[in-house]
Amino acid sequence: MTDFAKYFDSFAGVLGADNVWRGERECAPYNHDNKITGLTPIYVLRPGSVPEVQGVMRICNEHGLPVIARGAGTGNVGGAVCEGPAVMLDMMRMDRIIALDSVSMTVKVEAGLITQKLQTTVEEAGLFYPPDPASADACTIGGNAATNAGGLRAVKYGVTKDYVLGLRVVLADGRLLETGRATRKGVVGYDLTSLFVGSEGTLGVICELTLKLVRRPDCRKTMAASFMDIEHCAEGVEKILQSPVLPSGIEMVDEYCLAAVERSGKDLRGITAPFLLIELDGRKNVVEEEAALLDEILTKIGAKTRVAENEKQSREIWDARRVISDALKEMAPKKIAEDVAVPISALAKTLGEIEQLAKRLALQHAVYGHAGDGNLHVNVFFDPDEQGAPEKIEEFRGALFDLTLDNGGTISGEHGVGISKRPFIARELSAVSLDLHRSMKELFDPRGILNPGKIWPRK
Ligand code: LAC
Ligand code: ZN
Repeated sequence: MTDFAKYFDSFAGVLGADNVWRGERECAPYNHDNKITGLTPIYVLRPGSVPEVQGVMRICNEHGLPVIARGAGTGNVGGAVCEGPAVMLDMMRMDRIIALDSVSMTVKVEAGLITQKLQTTVEEAGLFYPPDPASADACTIGGNAATNAGGLRAVKYGVTKDYVLGLRVVLADGRLLETGRATRKGVVGYDLTSLFVGSEGTLGVICELTLKLVRRPDCRKTMAASFMDIEHCAEGVEKILQSPVLPSGIEMVDEYCLAAVERSGKDLRGITAPFLLIELDGRKNVVEEEAALLDEILTKIGAKTRVAENEKQSREIWDARRVISDALKEMAPKKIAEDVAVPISALAKTLGEIEQLAKRLALQHAVYGHAGDGNLHVNVFFDPDEQGAPEKIEEFRGALFDLTLDNGGTISGEHGVGISKRPFIARELSAVSLDLHRSMKELFDPRGILNPGKIWPRK
């Protein structure tokens, strides 16, 4: 067993003793993410620069010490959680905005920057960073890149990978790799940037990012459309996406989620569930026209629509949407929350099958999420003391993933694999694909020290 204690001086030599934390009191807060609790790391190391990350990685690689890079720990699949003795790299001291180029519309930032801080800074300059995970006020841009986070505006704008032009990544052996470029186009070499985005800390430590920005939209409008049931919500999504209007986001919220949100004290101003929450953005006159057209389309299929009267109302509604995950946890602490995605054409069928599955297993369930992307957060609640509860939950998860894949979908739309989806990954990826993935992992991390055991099923 590795004696980690003897590396204190080496780490302190690179970071200064103040940035080398050890012991239960300082390290225990790092034993979990938003959903999964693991072990307390042996060290929490807090680098302040790329050379410091390089110094740490050289030590860890030389001695074979497992390293887990972590942003704010807001993940949902245990991607940044320790399963064995490990060193945790807390990237949150590296939170600078290095350069904002408002002509080229790019920004260069450090990985530990909070996503919302990035959003507000660029918006003050008339620019816009669209990816918007529900946890934007807490999560970091490095964590977003490591998981290829999606969020609330992907319908029109896409997800994190669509905005990462280039990266500075420290490799397992401490070498610095620069991927991509600061130009909007560029095709020299393999797309290593995309390889790192979504690699969940298994290939290198993302330290700096060059991001693409767009012009900030002049105007935003929020619309809610209530339907009689969830399948009709799916029909609403299809109708919107077949219309000339492209909203930035189309979210879906069912009755159970609405009840949880209201119980947490948020005011949804009388919107009834299930409903779609639609955000339009762009030039003011265009947005007005689009809202009128959507109103017509959705009313025709039986929806009751409401438009937020002003920015304050709109913010309140979106704030309520953002807290659904926490509100559900408060209401029923024992739950599992999944993150499947299907093609839009299979959305209604998938929702119906999820309902049937929950009914068959007599499980209370709740569904919300990014319906406009076909991305559903499926929650089921259970009593851990009930005989057979864990088996029932595993049966639910397995059947949920199977039906998702049968409908042409994926077992994770945006949260990633981490620990929790690892046992299921071979249901989605072929043997050839898994083989190539493993070879790539070995190429980048021959000693297997970077976030060991994550994503890949143990052989
Ligand atoms: C959300 C997170 C859980 O959409 O992805 O609220
Ligand atoms: Zn989500």
